[in-house]
Amino acid sequence: MKIIETRELKKTYTLGKVEVNALNGVNALVEEGEFVAIMGPSGSGKSTFLNMVGMLDVPTSGEIYLNGTEITKMEEHARVEYRLRNIGFVFQFFNLFMELTAIENVMFPMMLSGHPFYKERAEELLESVGLKSRINHLPSELSGGEQQRVTIARALANQPKLLLTDEPTANLDTKATHEIMELFRRLNEEKHQTIIMVTHNPELGAKTDRIIHFRDGKVVK
Ligand SMILES: Nc1ncnc2c1ncn2[C@@H]1O[C@H](COP(=O)(O)OP(=O)(O)OP(=O)(O)O)[C@@H](O)[C@H]1O
Ligand SMILES: [Mg+2]
Repeated sequence: MKIIETRELKKTYTLGKVEVNALNGVNALVEEGEFVAIMGPSGSGKSTFLNMVGMLDVPTSGEIYLNGTEITKMEEHARVEYRLRNIGFVFQFFNLFMELTAIENVMFPMMLSGHPFYKERAEELLESVGLKSRINHLPSELSGGEQQRVTIARALANQPKLLLTDEPTANLDTKATHEIMELFRRLNEEKHQTIIMVTHNPELGAKTDRIIHFRDGKVVK
């Protein structure tokens, strides 16, 4: 089953009189259950692609099918709702609410979606990422690797079809990088979680099922 298909995806940013073609007609396909890496030089459009697929931004032209539904022309309200239920996003900078504890951060998206047992589920999620003993810590009381595991637990809260992550280990040391990678592998193998991960690290790319190579806003391999 295809989970993501893009057709001739283009994105042009206009800054004053300057136009930047960040995506130049991307045709990409990801199957359900795959763990895919996106690699390519800086500025090749990796983050732009991920943001389009993750419904954080809209393309200039082209189509994106998420689980068979064309998502580029959805109106704002439907878009926010669809995104909340189908997509989990993990960024390079952890983007946690600094004044909320680990468990409160994880509960947050479930409160938005009206999950009935959000506290219990948040506890389970934090336990599954190895943070059972840290649930009441604030982000400032956690290591970088632990903070990233909280964001992964939070991204998984509403059981998204798709987990997207943009350089998730760029700010982590080698040990924490290894732990996060193990966690993604386990989620993929045990829960069949589909994951698309942008990375600059060839070692991490090699640990995924497949690498999509970007160059100049296109898929080259
Ligand atoms: N909001 C924006 N406004 C204008 N130009 C942008 C914007 N976002 C990205 N760009 C430009 O689009 C191109 C693609 O950027 P993108 O962030 O997708 O690259 P990337 O492959 O993720 O690079 P990196 O590996 O450095 O993160 C770049 O030339 C960038 O300068
Ligand atoms: Mg990027």
